[in-house]
Amino acid sequence: MRFRVEQTKDGSSTLFDAKFGECYKSRHAANTEVDAVFFAPGVKENPWLYASKQFRILELGLGLGTNLHQAAKIAESLPNNEIEFFTIERDLAGAEKFIEEGLAGQELRELVKNREYKCKNFSATLICGDFEPVLQKLKASGESFHAIFFDPFSPKSNPEAWQPPIFQLAADLLFPEARLVSYSVSRIAKDGCTQAGLEVHKIRLPEILNKRSALLAIKPKRIENRP
Ligand SMILES: C[S@@+](CC[C@H](N)C(=O)[O-])C[C@H]1O[C@@H](n2cnc3c(N)ncnc32)[C@H](O)[C@@H]1O
Repeated sequence: MRFRVEQTKDGSSTLFDAKFGECYKSRHAANTEVDAVFFAPGVKENPWLYASKQFRILELGLGLGTNLHQAAKIAESLPNNEIEFFTIERDLAGAEKFIEEGLAGQELRELVKNREYKCKNFSATLICGDFEPVLQKLKASGESFHAIFFDPFSPKSNPEAWQPPIFQLAADLLFPEARLVSYSVSRIAKDGCTQAGLEVHKIRLPEILNKRSALLAIKPKRIENRP
């Protein structure tokens, strides 16, 4: 059997995927990871959050829609702006299993069925395909984002997702001062971001995650040409 439900210490659940030998979210504390790694540095502390009418998030790896669910919740608390969430995924088997187990929210159920979800000031779009060609298409269409959630499986079990061209495309898709966040502070992730021109920082994580730090990479301010 490919999938197994795992209960984590903060009361949330995730799936173990035997194909990759890993869980979709932290096996210690799934929901804590969502907030500490992705939403605190990537959204809540992002200077673009209140500076843009539409705050645009691009996720690499829909997985079980755990980040998607939190994005929809955060949108509810925003007084005057919207969240637009775009997510890239090539294999919906994990999402389908999460739905079958009755663990998924309304957003994931609708997104998997219709490729789109909309509710008040939150919208989500599922782009089916491989990261690299999808990122190339987004770049060619002139898209830009305020936050990128870099969330494939680990560099060890999902190595092609952590290659320099993927980081370069991700960096190209960020607005100035926008942020890329990831749970991995591996050499390949840090070097990929630095070579793509991002400023790399480490974020301290809560003890429950059993892991010291996560990655925050910021796109520098655009330097205007002086006469
Ligand atoms: C760790 S899980 C994502 C967890 C998810 N963000 C969540 O909140 O539940 C990684 C996902 O990335 C997808 N993935 C890995 N490599 C990919 C690639 N090259 N192109 C598209 N999807 C990929 C996997 O199928 C898997 O669903």
